[in-house]
Amino acid sequence: MPPTPDMIPIWRQGDDIWIVDQRRLPGSWHEVRIATVETMAEAIRTLAVRGAPAIGIAGGYGYWIAARLLLAEHPQLNAAALQAELTAAATVLRETRPTAVNLGWALDRMERVAQALLATGEVPANFTALLGVAAQAIADEDLTMCRRIGAAGAALIQSGEAILTHCNAGGLATGGYGTALGVLRAAHATGKAIHVYVDETRPLGQGARLTTYELHHARIPYTLITDSMAGSLMASGRIQRVITGADRIAANGDAVNKIGTYSVAVLARHHGIPFHIAAPSSTVDLSLMTGAAIPIEERATTEVTAPYGAAEYFAEVPVWNPAFDCTPATLIASIITEQGVLEGPYIGRLAAHLGAE
Ligand code: MRU
Repeated sequence: MPPTPDMIPIWRQGDDIWIVDQRRLPGSWHEVRIATVETMAEAIRTLAVRGAPAIGIAGGYGYWIAARLLLAEHPQLNAAALQAELTAAATVLRETRPTAVNLGWALDRMERVAQALLATGEVPANFTALLGVAAQAIADEDLTMCRRIGAAGAALIQSGEAILTHCNAGGLATGGYGTALGVLRAAHATGKAIHVYVDETRPLGQGARLTTYELHHARIPYTLITDSMAGSLMASGRIQRVITGADRIAANGDAVNKIGTYSVAVLARHHGIPFHIAAPSSTVDLSLMTGAAIPIEERATTEVTAPYGAAEYFAEVPVWNPAFDCTPATLIASIITEQGVLEGPYIGRLAAHLGAE
């Protein structure tokens, strides 16, 4: 099927889970059926499905697939053995990518549902059906949260603004609609004249390949730049605001997002431009006090040496390839969640904003 207006990247059709292979965008909208835990894990690992909320949704569906396959192959499995097998499957999924907390958050949520259903020591007849409902709820709630983030953030934007974004925090990275891109979609939908500047986002080009694809389909005016152009663009006075997503936000408001986000935030501060993070509550990790505790994924050196699959440099080139960086809370003008817009300082106030203890 063609992409939906919300760019939903992962969905359930009957008993099947489908993803769009984001590695092939914008060239082709290629749908892939995911039938096993290992193929789901591989899809997450290789960024066929990517973006913090989207990999959380993938984790939830992956857990449901695990339950279905286990009970289909071993109908006599008792509750304790089933729980142990499901925890093992959750570990496979959890270990695919370390930085975005949404993946672990979704798997913990699925584990709690399974534990509650198995608490009597029996496997209820509707066990897999109820896990399917739980997985679907994660996807549906994410789309709802994105729409609320969009509405809250759009109120910040004045007609006529040019806004810079980094990476892809659009529908493709979420349950649909997007976080940072959700804000831009909502502003555009309410008739505000905006222009979006899109950082290429080396090494994998999520901005160049995916954000431009979404903006093109949403008919939102945009211009693509390479990452190194952001400073000049800001100095020229052509940027009024920066909005990005996040993969994990610590309790003090430090936000980890795609590599290069920190540089953009520093540049924005230097030029007096407000820098915002847009993310759902599932991206906030209140168990970590600061961003220094957030694990940063390091990925294959070939992502740097073979840009977009082009010829590699000579093999001996030493490479450092962290996929994410941390933007200190002091550089973040506000964090936009489904609960509204929260300005810093965030310590103590972020938890209250989310209604957490
Ligand atoms: O490595 P990726 O493509 O999964 O990284 C994605 C990002 O860094 C996004 O900005 C983040 O997940 C927010 S998505 C709403």
